[in-house]
Amino acid sequence: MKPSISLIGAGAAGTALLLALSRKGYPVAAISSRTSESARRCAELVGTHSFSTDNSAASAAGDIVFIATPDSLIRPVSEEISGNGGFHRGQLVLHLSGALTSDTLTDAADLGADICAMHPIQTLAEPLEGARLLESAWYCLEGPTPGLEQARRLTQSLSGRILTVAKTDKALYHAALCVASNYLVVLEKLAVEMLVEAGVEPVAALPALMPLIRGAADNLAQCGLPTALTGPISRGDTATVAQHLRVIDDKCPGYLPLYKDLGRQALRIAEDKGNMAPGSAALLEALLKAGS
Ligand SMILES: NC(=O)c1ccc[n+]([C@@H]2O[C@H](COP(=O)([O-])OP(=O)(O)OC[C@H]3O[C@@H](n4cnc5c(N)ncnc54)[C@H](OP(=O)(O)O)[C@@H]3O)[C@@H](O)[C@H]2O)c1
Repeated sequence: MKPSISLIGAGAAGTALLLALSRKGYPVAAISSRTSESARRCAELVGTHSFSTDNSAASAAGDIVFIATPDSLIRPVSEEISGNGGFHRGQLVLHLSGALTSDTLTDAADLGADICAMHPIQTLAEPLEGARLLESAWYCLEGPTPGLEQARRLTQSLSGRILTVAKTDKALYHAALCVASNYLVVLEKLAVEMLVEAGVEPVAALPALMPLIRGAADNLAQCGLPTALTGPISRGDTATVAQHLRVIDDKCPGYLPLYKDLGRQALRIAEDKGNMAPGSAALLEALLKAGS
């Protein structure tokens, strides 16, 4: 018999994870949330009647407890539960934050529970799709050994792949994910604005970019770095880059420093890839110099 799971915080991530694990045979012990509506919605999805707004009772009922509240509430909720004796020896208590360390759960550890931070490296908006995405996702685990080992088994039951990151490197780890995901969105916003400046209809701009974005992501998945880099810098096409710099300076000068910064990073990748036209690296370097 697999250990039972209690969920505290029936939002996007918690509900998706509970659904994914219940499909793998983990019994649901109890669900609690700030509002009974969220707890009920989650309970209906996983097929249980055990839902409430009583975090401590819900926590006490499970062998494994996921605290899936917003990051800022993980410690207060954990303090509330421990104050009511809702953690006990032999339990595994986890949170799902990528930015916070397992130290956020010291109140549970003080009552004898094993603890771990288990961050799914996935974007979870809707429970059914989220549960699907959580299968075979990557998970970052951080915490003391007994909890870490149990969390490893949980992620393995989802066919998940595991990164372990030291407590001291957690902030840099999270910043990297922010660059990979959030800043991709920022770049697409800038690209949309440049297309509109170039006369493209605003409604068509993002849809026209989507196949290109998916193609780049597919190339990254299939060929990796540095091969996935294409475009004028990858080819060493200096005249095209010079033209870009002129037109950006003219039409949207605010974007010039970013274009140059990213261009210099692209140049490092292009040099690794090694198919630039001879002599073009130095020319590109000069063109893309900061402040030039
Ligand atoms: N969503 C993602 O893509 C994602 C990915 C990886 C990790 N995470 C992590 O997962 C955690 C949850 O994020 P989320 O995106 O799922 O947030 P969310 O959708 O806003 O869900 C948070 C849930 O916490 C509940 N809650 C708030 N205060 C509470 C309290 N005092 N007691 C019990 N429940 C309470 C809310 O309940 P009500 O609905 O009843 O108000 C809400 O359902 C965070 O640590 C986040 O960093 C999220």
